[in-house]
Amino acid sequence: MSEDMAADGYMEIINIDISSVIIEMMRKKYFDLAQLQYMQMDVRDMSKFSDESFDCAIDKGTLDSLMCGVEAPLSAAQMVLEVDRLLKPGGVFMLITYGDPSARIPHLNQPVCSWKIVLYILPRSGFKGNIRRSVFDPVPLTESGRLPEGFVLEDPDSHYIYVCKKGQELTGIDSPTLSHLKLQDSE
Ligand SMILES: C[S@@+](CC[C@H](N)C(=O)[O-])C[C@H]1O[C@@H](n2cnc3c(N)ncnc32)[C@H](O)[C@@H]1O
Repeated sequence: MSEDMAADGYMEIINIDISSVIIEMMRKKYFDLAQLQYMQMDVRDMSKFSDESFDCAIDKGTLDSLMCGVEAPLSAAQMVLEVDRLLKPGGVFMLITYGDPSARIPHLNQPVCSWKIVLYILPRSGFKGNIRRSVFDPVPLTESGRLPEGFVLEDPDSHYIYVCKKGQELTGIDSPTLSHLKLQDSE
C-alpha cells in the first residue's frame, strides 16, 4: 500500500510495525523508494513522534491484531489516543479493518477524541456476488454508531474503512495520557 502511495506522489510516508523482522524485510524490499521510511515501534506508544506532526494516519490490520491480544480494550484505547495525539487538527485517521461498527466505533470514540467518522464498506477483491449500492458511497451509521437496521452485508468478509477526521480545535491540556490509562486499568 505504501509503495502505491509513493507511486501516487506522496513524498513522506513513515511505516511502523512492532516486529523488527517485518521492518527489516520491508526496508530491504523498498530500499530504492526514498519516500518510505521504516521504524520498529509499538503503535500504543509512539512517543518518538511529537504531537500534531502528521496529516494522516492509516492502519490496515494493526488494530485487528491488537483486538486479538490480551487487554484488547486498553491496547485499542492506547493506539487511538496516540493516533489522535499525532494528527494535526483536521487530520485524518483511516482505519481499514474487518471489525464492524459495533466492534470498532466504541474503541474509536475515546472520550477526548472528536472524530467525525464516515464509514465505507468494500467487498473483498474478486467477490462475485451482487452489490446493490455504490461502494464509493458512505454507509450511514445510527446515532449509537451501528449499521442501520436492515442493512445487507453482501460479502461477510468485507473490509470496513472508517475515515475519522480529527476536530479542528487544539488539543486540551486535560487529555488523558498513556499513564492515566494504565492507572485506570489497574484500579
Ligand atoms: C494483519 S497484519 C497487517 C500488516 C500490514 N499493515 C498489512 O496491511 O499488510 C498486523 C500487523 O500488526 C503488527 N502489530 C501487532 N501489534 C502491534 C503493535 N502493538 N504495534 C505495531 N504493530 C503491531 C504485526 O506485527 C503485524 O505485522
